[in-house]
Amino acid sequence: MIEKYEFKRHRRLRSSSAMRDIVRETTLQTDDFIYPLFVLEGEHIKNEVSSMPGVYQLSLDQLTSEMAEITDLGIKAVMLFGVPDEKDAQGTGAFIQDGIVQRATRIIKEKYPELLVIADTCLCEYTSHGHCGVIENEDVHNDHSLPLLAKTAVSQAEAGADIIAPSNMMDGFVVAIRDSLDQAGFEHIPIMSYAVKYASAFYGPFRDAADSTPQFGDRKTYQMDPANRLEALREAESDIEEGADFLIVKPALAYLDIVRDVKNNINVPVVAYNVSGEYAMVKAASLNGWVNERELVLEKLTAMKRAGADMIMTYFAKDAAKWLNE
Ligand code: PBG
Repeated sequence: MIEKYEFKRHRRLRSSSAMRDIVRETTLQTDDFIYPLFVLEGEHIKNEVSSMPGVYQLSLDQLTSEMAEITDLGIKAVMLFGVPDEKDAQGTGAFIQDGIVQRATRIIKEKYPELLVIADTCLCEYTSHGHCGVIENEDVHNDHSLPLLAKTAVSQAEAGADIIAPSNMMDGFVVAIRDSLDQAGFEHIPIMSYAVKYASAFYGPFRDAADSTPQFGDRKTYQMDPANRLEALREAESDIEEGADFLIVKPALAYLDIVRDVKNNINVPVVAYNVSGEYAMVKAASLNGWVNERELVLEKLTAMKRAGADMIMTYFAKDAAKWLNE
C-alpha cells in the first residue's frame, strides 16, 4: 500500500540544464580571477615548479608571450612574486629600483597598460633568512620591518604597479604603507591587504616556487593560528581602519567560514587566495586520474564565491578561464 506524504518538491528546480541555469545563485566569470606569477632573473627561463605542475618561474623575456595568453583569455589582473638572484638580511632586493618585480612591472605596463599589476609586498623572497621582516633577537622585529615594507611599496608604485598587496603580517603595515604611498604622491593606488593570513601548511609548494622557506623557525609569531575565527575579524577591522581597500583571506579552501565572516562584517571587496598547496593537491589527484580536474576546480572556485569572495587569486586562473570560455 502506498501512503501519501506531504513534502516539498525541490527537484522541480533541478529538472533540466536550463532550469538549473536560471535558478543558479552563484556564477564564476573570468573577471573574478587574479593570476599569480613568479618572475626571476636570467634569460630564456621557464622553470616548472616541481610541486606545482603547470606553474612556472619565468624570466623577464618570457613575460610578453605570457601576457598575450593571459589577456587573450580575458584575465584582468596578475599578482607578481619576485625570485631574486641575491638575498641579504634586509631583503634589499625587494625595494631597489631595478628589483625583479619592479622591472617586470615596467615591462608589463609598457606593453599591456590595461592589465592590472598587483605587487606582492613582502620581504621573505628577498631575505637570506627567509623571514618576512628583519630579524632581531631571533624573531621578526615588527616596527623595524615597517619602513622596509613601505619603501618596497613605494618602489613598486613607482614602477607602475596598480595595486599594492602587503603580505607580511606585521602589525601596522597598512598604515605605514598608506602613509608612504600618500607622501610619494600615490594616494590613488589602492592597498589589497593580506589582512587575514593564517600560518598554514598549504603554503609549502609556494616556498619552492618563490624560494622563501624560513631558514629557522616558522611564521607563527606573525601569521595567524588556524584555530582562530574571531581574531580574523580583529585583523580585518584594524586593516580597514588603517586604510586597506581590499581584504584577502588566505588560504581559501579550508577557510571559507572566515571568508563568509569577513564578507558579512566588512564592506570592502574580499579576495580569497586559493593557495599553492590547494593547487598541488588537486593537480596531484588529477594527474593520477583520481578526480575530474575541470569539474573539481570549477566547483571549488564557485564555492569560494558562494562563501563571499568577490575575487579569487588562483594558479588555476588560466585553466578556469579556458573552461569558462568554451
Ligand atoms: C609571502 C607569501 C606567501 C604566500 C603568498 N605571499 C608565503 C608565506 O607566507 O610563506 C603563499 C602563497 C601560496 O601558497 O600560494 N609572505
